[in-house]
Amino acid sequence: MSVEDELLKRVDKSKLPRHVAIIMDGNGRWASYRGLLRSAGHSAGVKTLKKILTVAVNINLEALTVYAFSTENWKRPHSEVDFLLHLFSEYLEKEKREMHEKNVQLRFLGRIEEFSAGIQNQIRDATTLMKNNTGVKFNIAANYGGQDEILRAAQKLASKVSIGKISTRDIDAELFESELDTHGLPPVDLLIRTSGDMRISNFLLWQAAYAELWFTNTQWPEFSPEEFVDALNNFANRDRRFGGLGS
Ligand code: FPP
Repeated sequence: MSVEDELLKRVDKSKLPRHVAIIMDGNGRWASYRGLLRSAGHSAGVKTLKKILTVAVNINLEALTVYAFSTENWKRPHSEVDFLLHLFSEYLEKEKREMHEKNVQLRFLGRIEEFSAGIQNQIRDATTLMKNNTGVKFNIAANYGGQDEILRAAQKLASKVSIGKISTRDIDAELFESELDTHGLPPVDLLIRTSGDMRISNFLLWQAAYAELWFTNTQWPEFSPEEFVDALNNFANRDRRFGGLGS
């Protein structure tokens, strides 16, 4: 049996989360501890992402969402922002065929319209290519902020009220969700953050309302498929009560 098959056998399939979200933190620290440039950490991070997406495909996870670039990341030095944008572009070009062959459905969350026309075209091409796929829903949050997403949804609903398309009383959780970038996706069940910090950092604030949280000190470039399976199996043993008394 291959190492991959051994690993997949370890996954507790009876209680898989439907939607896993990941804050891929620690690329910079991983690089500087090794005397490398931060960009080397981001490049290593892309390799980790590839491996984790493969596990998600192999276990037939319903949805995987990763935080690739926050609305606050523009504050980083120009050279780092440029490098990250270059990585997105390279990643899409290199990976889109394989993702498509694996039946992945790709979606971007966030203010994509603020990226260069070139990147927007690549995003459009890749998502169009995969639009009829039925496998893992793979979402990349880029130029994304949870508060910003909620504000944009509120603005869209307010304009519908102002032109009389809906009334204020129509606004319930379901209608609100339909205006979020994640519309149609299940809520986040498991939120993983690597590299030791224990915070949510403006990621999927609405969607992670009842998410189980899993933190690890491992920096993202070293996060392995084995540790991903550990997180999934840990989730399988959580007692989820959603504010009620539980089972
Ligand atoms: C956090 O590490 C990571 C990011 C801000 C970028 C995440 C990007 C990738 C994993 C690669 C690109 C992604 C795609 C989809 C191609 P950090 O730089 O904040 O690390 P630090 O906290 O140690 O400084």
